[in-house]
Amino acid sequence: MNSGNQPTDKFSGKIGFILAASASAIGLGNIWRFPYLTAKYGGGIFLLTYLILVLTFGYALLISENAVGRMTGKGPIGAYRQFCGKGWRKIVGIGGWINAIVPLLIVPYYCVIGGWVTKYAAAFFYTPVSKFASDNMIITSAGKTASFSSDYFINFITSTWEPLLYFLIFMLLLVLVVAMGVQKGIERSSKILMPILFLMIVAVCIYSAFLPGAGKGFSYYLKPDFSKFGLMTVVAAMGQMFFSLSIAMGIMITYGSYMRKEENIPSCVRSVEFCDTAVAFLAGMMIIPAVVAFGGEKAAEAAGPGLVFITMPQVFAGFPGGQIVAILFFLLVLFAAATSAISLLETNVQTLSQELHISRKTAIAAGVFEIVSIGIITVLGYSVFSQFHPLAFTGIAKMKGMDILDSLDFISNNLMMPVGAIFTTLLVTAVIGLQGISEEIRNGTEHWRRAWLYRFCMRFIVTPCLLIILLDSLGVF
Ligand code: ALA
Repeated sequence: MNSGNQPTDKFSGKIGFILAASASAIGLGNIWRFPYLTAKYGGGIFLLTYLILVLTFGYALLISENAVGRMTGKGPIGAYRQFCGKGWRKIVGIGGWINAIVPLLIVPYYCVIGGWVTKYAAAFFYTPVSKFASDNMIITSAGKTASFSSDYFINFITSTWEPLLYFLIFMLLLVLVVAMGVQKGIERSSKILMPILFLMIVAVCIYSAFLPGAGKGFSYYLKPDFSKFGLMTVVAAMGQMFFSLSIAMGIMITYGSYMRKEENIPSCVRSVEFCDTAVAFLAGMMIIPAVVAFGGEKAAEAAGPGLVFITMPQVFAGFPGGQIVAILFFLLVLFAAATSAISLLETNVQTLSQELHISRKTAIAAGVFEIVSIGIITVLGYSVFSQFHPLAFTGIAKMKGMDILDSLDFISNNLMMPVGAIFTTLLVTAVIGLQGISEEIRNGTEHWRRAWLYRFCMRFIVTPCLLIILLDSLGVF
């Protein structure tokens, strides 16, 4: 690809695009956030709310980003610039920068977590899972009593060299794929890893379903609990959907620029939404019944690293066959994290190459430099820099105690992404115009049946939803 020109290395066709975009969407968000949010916000009623949002709000934004990318053949900054050259439009152009900076902030910490997952995927090949049993209590180096599982995790992330090493290994995996190019690297790896990931999730789901006490977990996960339904259910579903579909991360603009003109955007977007939602749903089926069988309903409301790195090994230790299932589980989390991180790195590489007018190889080197610089500081945020809280200066209670990783996550996810998406909505509705963008979307589409829904959502639904997500991030609700 020549800097500034249309990319020549594109996805080979519809399947290539769908698998690569789904690989980007299916990530840590599906596995460590969706199941616990569903458990917390009323099971079936949360699922229904999420589905409605995916088919309206998510549908409109995904289509918009893909269409803007394909229309321009550019990454976020170039795409915005193409339409926002003069007058007031220049202000909308800021959105391109926001959409380009988000993946630059996310990929280093995503690689840090990817390193943790790599460590666990490797560890269960040689560490007996029985050691992680919940009743295996130990005295920690600080003289406190803790479970082996939590001590193992804390010891690992607070050491210096080991998490650094795994961070670098994970990053190298991404670099290898991205260096092979869009079709030979990203598309091919997605075509191999996505079906394997799906099969592994189904295998762990079947295992969970047969655990004694799993039935209670299923009903907890699926039965609508209307007493938990409220504004926060909708807000949580919106935020989750936004992150899970890789919206406002520059990725879908970049991937849109690799899409051929004859491809049917609405149909591709429908498939990506289906794959992402199906995997999130299956992740819940795999995790919630097992966790409820192990520790009751309260245990199922654990989120994030605690759920994946502390609770899940305890769950596996408590049931027969746990060793194999632990390996399968961490390998599938590794595939999900790696394929999302690949799309983030690719977005950065495209932006750097187009904006700095450098070759793809040099852009990859610059991307690696950026990940390593921020990533090392993030890894050391649990040891050498554990007293450094980047957002302490704000004085806001919620932000004061955040470590480096959480701060990067908060700035990118909670603040920049909703703002970036508001700019994209402005770009599409006020600058390009719904007529213009619809023409691009109709390229390759004979019957776009949901065109009315797209226009309705872009005019009336998307911006209020984004403002609600932003206000929620700022702690207004
Ligand atoms: N969409 C990706 C995830 O869910 C970034 O992790």
